[in-house]
Amino acid sequence: MWRYQLVCGLLLLTTATTWAKLGTFWHVSDFHLDVNYTADGDITNMCWKKTSQAAEGGSATKPGAFGSYECDAPFKLVKSAVDAMKRIHPNPDFIMWTGDDTAHVDDKFFSTQKVVDIISNITDTLKSSFPDIDVLPVLGNHDYYPKNQVPATENELQNKVADLWQTWLGDSYKEFKSGGRYSRDIPKTNVTVVALNTLLWYKSNQETEDSDGDPGKQFQWADGVLTELGKRKRHVYLMGHIPAGTFERYQQKKEGFHWYQERFNKKYIELVQNHSNIIKAQFFAHHHTDSFRLFFNASNASLPVSYMLLVPGVTPWRSSLSEETGANNPGVRLVTYETDTGLVKEVSTYYLDLAKANSDDRADWKLEYNFTTKYNLNAINPSTLYNFTQTMKSNRTLFDRYYTANTVSLENPEVCQDQCQRLHFCAITEVDYERFYKCNSASSTSGWAAWALATVGVLVLRLR
Ligand SMILES: *[C@@H]1O[C@H](CO)[C@@H](O)[C@H](O)[C@H]1NC(C)=O
Ligand SMILES: *[C@@H]1O[C@H](CO)[C@@H](O)[C@H](O)[C@H]1NC(C)=O
Ligand SMILES: *[C@@H]1O[C@H](CO)[C@@H](O)[C@H](O)[C@H]1NC(C)=O
Ligand SMILES: *[C@@H]1O[C@H](CO)[C@@H](O)[C@H](O)[C@H]1NC(C)=O
Ligand SMILES: *[C@@H]1O[C@H](CO)[C@@H](O)[C@H](O)[C@H]1NC(C)=O
Ligand SMILES: *[C@@H]1O[C@H](CO)[C@@H](O)[C@H](O)[C@H]1NC(C)=O
Ligand SMILES: *[C@@H]1O[C@H](CO)[C@@H](O)[C@H](O)[C@H]1NC(C)=O
Ligand SMILES: *[C@@H]1O[C@H](CO)[C@@H](O)[C@H](O)[C@H]1NC(C)=O
Ligand SMILES: *[C@@H]1O[C@H](CO)[C@@H](O)[C@H](O)[C@H]1NC(C)=O
Ligand SMILES: [Zn+2]
Ligand SMILES: [Zn+2]
Repeated sequence: MWRYQLVCGLLLLTTATTWAKLGTFWHVSDFHLDVNYTADGDITNMCWKKTSQAAEGGSATKPGAFGSYECDAPFKLVKSAVDAMKRIHPNPDFIMWTGDDTAHVDDKFFSTQKVVDIISNITDTLKSSFPDIDVLPVLGNHDYYPKNQVPATENELQNKVADLWQTWLGDSYKEFKSGGRYSRDIPKTNVTVVALNTLLWYKSNQETEDSDGDPGKQFQWADGVLTELGKRKRHVYLMGHIPAGTFERYQQKKEGFHWYQERFNKKYIELVQNHSNIIKAQFFAHHHTDSFRLFFNASNASLPVSYMLLVPGVTPWRSSLSEETGANNPGVRLVTYETDTGLVKEVSTYYLDLAKANSDDRADWKLEYNFTTKYNLNAINPSTLYNFTQTMKSNRTLFDRYYTANTVSLENPEVCQDQCQRLHFCAITEVDYERFYKCNSASSTSGWAAWALATVGVLVLRLR
């Protein structure tokens, strides 16, 4: 009898472990393909062909075959990223592709058709490497003409792109066409991806600047979709191009710099808080850097309830925003998750050491790091990430690891001390703008000094 029980116990154990079936997906973003890149172009002018005029004033340094930190991606880099994904993991359950496909050059070089052509080029590149894989795409702010100015209504560009993506979009075709968003059940899993059109919330989008509090009624749509998914007991991944919160690499120059209009940022946080029981993770892009964000319970600011992973870009382009923003190595990311619970088990970032690729004339994409190993986590969830972030605030060893990953192993973490380290910490832990300011000044002595000075200043003024 006991033998029978033992066998049954063992059987149960094996079933219990095989139950937790693992799935994978790629997250790739921000290709910023520049069709005018030339390997011997002018690095002071997006690596475009030297005009006789630019040649005199331009730099003598040659960009490489795979790209330059000063410029957007040549096709060779785009192709090498997709080839690497194919070689490393050819059979993911799906691919998240979160947009920004064109170069950071003036609108005068584009038209709606030129933007569509570039999106079409990358679409075909992905399709030819992954013919049988479902790609879940959204558009970035650089995937519109004129850039950023995306209306909340049906438009020519979205219509054309919906046609390019028709086989991927399937049942979501109409939804995408009218709103640039959709939700999709991942076959053979309990996971549903909700893809958002974040461009409607971007503060540089004048088309939605004066709209009512809910352009495209997207918050209402998302709340309805998430409520329904909750009833169906689905586990949800939110995905989109532009993230909520502040940009961690533009704070020293412009404290509090962010993307969403403040009212939309607040609403987004609320949406996540309201549905945090089913949102298992959020996947966003646009920064080109590798970071993450934490969301807390509405009535308890020390209870983390959700997290967002920011994927690095394929483009290495040194941002023109400011010196602190900098450049990055190209990166792509493989996520391993449990198909029945939607829990993220591992986040593996692969990267190309661009300088080395150019000097070797060979693109050697490698694992940059596994999240759990690099940060000593036994699981990836809101509490372990919060705990890790709290430790990283003062532990330089851990912070250095995070900061190295932030530019995809390009920048030396020594450049980021005191104020810079605090700003990264506050950007990660405080997605709300006011709370971000408070976090930064509360933990900053210079913040207190500024406050004291300001108070004295006011007193002096009053005395006069
Ligand atoms: C590429 O360069 C040509 C020549 O300057 C220009 O006409 C065209 O608009 C550029 N295209 C893009 C997408 O930048
Ligand atoms: C994409 O454009 C590049 C040039 O920028 C070209 O070499 C390549 O063949 C195009 N690929 C596709 C699939 O259209
Ligand atoms: C979140 O829930 C509250 C309370 O039900 C509701 O008033 C609010 O509109 C919801 N927010 C969003 C963005 O759906
Ligand atoms: C968070 O706070 C709300 C009240 O705002 C409460 O109803 C809810 O149970 C809390 N959520 C979690 C996950 O503890
Ligand atoms: C808030 O959440 C933390 C972490 O779970 C918990 O320790 C604390 O008791 C909670 N505070 C309140 C007021 O519920
Ligand atoms: C979905 O979740 C249920 C439990 O809620 C589980 O029984 C089922 O096996 C899961 N389905 C898949 C495909 O993982
Ligand atoms: C990184 O994680 C992946 C996915 O779980 C795993 O296959 C791989 O062996 C890990 N690599 C290292 C070096 O830990
Ligand atoms: C929190 O972080 C500390 C220091 O890294 C670690 O020792 C501890 O195990 C962590 N706790 C949890 C619950 O993850
Ligand atoms: C900082 O973190 C590292 C890596 O987890 C650990 O080895 C070290 O003991 C920590 N240092 C302190 C002072 O806690
Ligand atoms: Zn971008
Ligand atoms: Zn962007």
